[in-house]
Amino acid sequence: MNILLTGGAGYIGSHTIIELDKAGHSVVVVDNFVNSQPEALKRVEKIIGKTVPFVEADCRNHAALDKIFTDNKIDAVINFAGLKAVGESVAKPLEYYENNMNEVFVLVDVMRKHGCKNIIFSSSATVYGDPAIIPITEECPKGVCTNPYGWTKSMLEQVLMDVQKADPEWNVVLLRYFNPIGAHESGLIGENPNGIPNNLMPYITQTAIGMRKELGVFGNDYDTPDGTGVRDFIHVVDLAKGHVCALKAIVENKGLSIYNLGTGHGYSVLDVVKAFEKVNGLKVPYVIKDRRPGDIATCYCNPAKAKAELGWEAQYGIEEMCRDSWRFQKNNPNGYEK
Ligand code: NAD
Ligand code: UFG
Repeated sequence: MNILLTGGAGYIGSHTIIELDKAGHSVVVVDNFVNSQPEALKRVEKIIGKTVPFVEADCRNHAALDKIFTDNKIDAVINFAGLKAVGESVAKPLEYYENNMNEVFVLVDVMRKHGCKNIIFSSSATVYGDPAIIPITEECPKGVCTNPYGWTKSMLEQVLMDVQKADPEWNVVLLRYFNPIGAHESGLIGENPNGIPNNLMPYITQTAIGMRKELGVFGNDYDTPDGTGVRDFIHVVDLAKGHVCALKAIVENKGLSIYNLGTGHGYSVLDVVKAFEKVNGLKVPYVIKDRRPGDIATCYCNPAKAKAELGWEAQYGIEEMCRDSWRFQKNNPNGYEK
């Protein structure tokens, strides 16, 4: 298939290009580089040994998207584009709603105009709020999101469900990612956050390399085995492969489908610190801090549906995730420099 990746220069998108290429698909990338660099695509080209066609454009730009669909026969879209920093979304709600929602409105409008009605959407475990069921199945009711970023995911799921309901020719695949970490084994591409990282793994790798003094562990009084938060960390390469498998739902004309993409294992913050130290032979100094507002104690999924229907299952364990995250950080102490 010929697949358009919006936001394809970002962390998950760049890894997904590689897996799509391996599986014999061709890609076109559109990105405005608001949270990524063209260098990421150059590195992907190095890994796959071919050019990645890309258009620098904002997905809210109707004319630019229209031109992409006129110039290319697109069979399906994977929509990675979006702003994703939870804290920033609390400070700038309007910018988050405006970017994340409008970008999908424009995209879907252009897609239907060109008769391309297949979309895979990057959703998130955040739509479950404080989950009613652990491990979380897709039947678990959606919950109350604690920030505007989360609401954009929850609302866009609803928008896409309604589009599919109104026109059953659409195939809409909602992928609810758990916590992606890790990097491609080459060490060439990985997570490259701007400024002080919000997320656990980049904070750990930046502490290990000396950019940060110590990791703050946000709370050790949760109702979990060691008191720290428990999450379903998933290797980004496994997540990328999940998108290739999700194309099956489109080929089979499933209409609307929803899948959790996680490993099904919960690791605590301190489990991750210990695994990182062990596998990389490093020390990660940390201090216990107050709980972070909006955090929940435990979040991990039951990934059985994706296995049964898509034949997808995560392969990598926590040690490989820690090893590969560190390799990227070590090889790229200042991120994507040319
Ligand atoms: P990322 O920020 O690395 O990638 C997103 C890409 O979208 C960036 O390259 C950015 O430049 C681009 N973009 C943003 N707005 C755009 C616009 N209007 N037009 C064109 N390009 C635009 O993020 P990621 O970690 O690769 O995440 C990909 C998707 O998965 C996002 O939608 C994110 O919300 C979702 N997601 C991520 C996580 C995570 O923990 N990384 C978890 C759940 C869901
Ligand atoms: N944590 C720390 N110290 C840090 C950063 C995080 O102790 O410096 C803890 C958090 O309190 C939490 C765990 O590490 O217990 C994971 O936190 P992250 O910020 O890495 O991830 P979250 O589970 O909070 O959220 C992430 C993304 C969301 C996404 C969600 C589910 O940020 O966008 O995963 O996919 F919705």
